[in-house]
Amino acid sequence: MPKLTLIQKYNRINITFNGTPLLRDVLVKSGIFVDSPCGGNGICGKCKVRVSGAVSEPNKTEINAGCRLACQTYLLGDVEAELLSQDAEFVNIETDTCNVQSNAEVLWKYGIAVDIGTTTVVLKLFDNSGECLSTVSALNPQRAFASDVIGRIDAALRGNNEILKKQITDCIDELLKYACTSANISLSDVDKRIITGNTAMLYLYTGRLPESISVAPFIADTLFGEFYDGAYLPPCMNAFVGADISCAILASQMCERDEISLLCDIGTNGEIALWKNGRLYVTSAAAGPAFEGGEISCGVGCVSGAIDRVTVDNGEIKATTIDNTKAVGLCGSGLISLVSAFLELGVIDESGYGENIPIINANGGNVQLTQDDIRAFQLAKAAISAAIEIMLKRTETDIKDIKTFYISGGFGNNLSVNDAVKIGLFPKELSKNVKFIGNAALSGAIKLLFDESNIEKIERIAHTSTHIALSGEDDFYKSFINDIDFPINW
Ligand code: FES
Repeated sequence: MPKLTLIQKYNRINITFNGTPLLRDVLVKSGIFVDSPCGGNGICGKCKVRVSGAVSEPNKTEINAGCRLACQTYLLGDVEAELLSQDAEFVNIETDTCNVQSNAEVLWKYGIAVDIGTTTVVLKLFDNSGECLSTVSALNPQRAFASDVIGRIDAALRGNNEILKKQITDCIDELLKYACTSANISLSDVDKRIITGNTAMLYLYTGRLPESISVAPFIADTLFGEFYDGAYLPPCMNAFVGADISCAILASQMCERDEISLLCDIGTNGEIALWKNGRLYVTSAAAGPAFEGGEISCGVGCVSGAIDRVTVDNGEIKATTIDNTKAVGLCGSGLISLVSAFLELGVIDESGYGENIPIINANGGNVQLTQDDIRAFQLAKAAISAAIEIMLKRTETDIKDIKTFYISGGFGNNLSVNDAVKIGLFPKELSKNVKFIGNAALSGAIKLLFDESNIEKIERIAHTSTHIALSGEDDFYKSFINDIDFPINW
């Protein structure tokens, strides 16, 4: 049988195949992520590859693109291949000074806190004095199967559970290797681990078949809050409100204050918590990966060169990039402010339609949104805004009574609240009381790392919450449809 050898940073993977398949198909079937926002149609150029061996001649699409594309290249015999465009995105090492001060006794030497996001995995390494030695992040390789939670559950149930488990454990191992190398410590010295994530991510990490959370009434057969393979996995609240939101609530300390507050975690799965009169209400809505750069043709994570903010100056669009380097794409905050700028300039109308969507240049790099990107973005923002609306309606909460509005998520402080209001992500009334808390899921995991008494607190949070169901509910569906258009007055 012919063999495909995939060359990766640290290893080579051998895959056998039958017939003359497309390279992208063989990789995806083997559980290897191939960034393909255009669905393999040769349009986005994100599946760029270096190949040698028995492959088809470059076709017209590849000649125009000036490179080989995994979605256009047929394997005719033994081949060596290396995916090119994903390398820069694969591991992002951040220099960050978020040290921790804790009064609790710390009995370990080096510890890690990990947030398994549906799109991005982030790991922080600390020493026992509270110094953050390294922060590393990578795209979740399970995206090879699907960009959202439902698609991954489905893939696991179709016989890919072991592959999905291996993908995420390998990814965390690799991040840990990077973190230890950059901090100059030995892997074996890491003796404490907290790993958080949404319910489905923890199922897949532990290799547990997510059958119970795949069918109505969606009752998880475990909610974690336990040790697995030496790591503490914080408790989830239900099938779709996971340990990541329990951690975010812990980090925000919202339940320790005598005021009505709302927390919104913006990610592939938008999760919302309301603290009111001593009760905690939670809900979640599938927003899709647009806010994390997924399924947007020029979308990227928060990497160097990502456009993170756009402003309108004298009728002209000005964009800034992370690290002030050549633009490579748009991350979530850049996407929100670019769409807001398009609305302000009349490039698109309130339905999202625009005839001439301009190319945006920043530091010599060009980025352009497509009409499909804007549609995907509208669905994502409608899911979050409808979830907030229904949460407030069902709990009979007057928006004016909300004293603090916590916003967590990967793009944290880069988000412009005005832009978020302009595109209809949040109601205007909430904009005055916003408090950004960054990646609060990770912050909560760090709290657990440094102070075990927080385990009791997080268990209380998870076990006493009331779930507000949205999926399949008429009121949510109606709000969602209404919220797809952009607001006319902002
Ligand atoms: S997936 Fe190959 S060009 Fe888009």
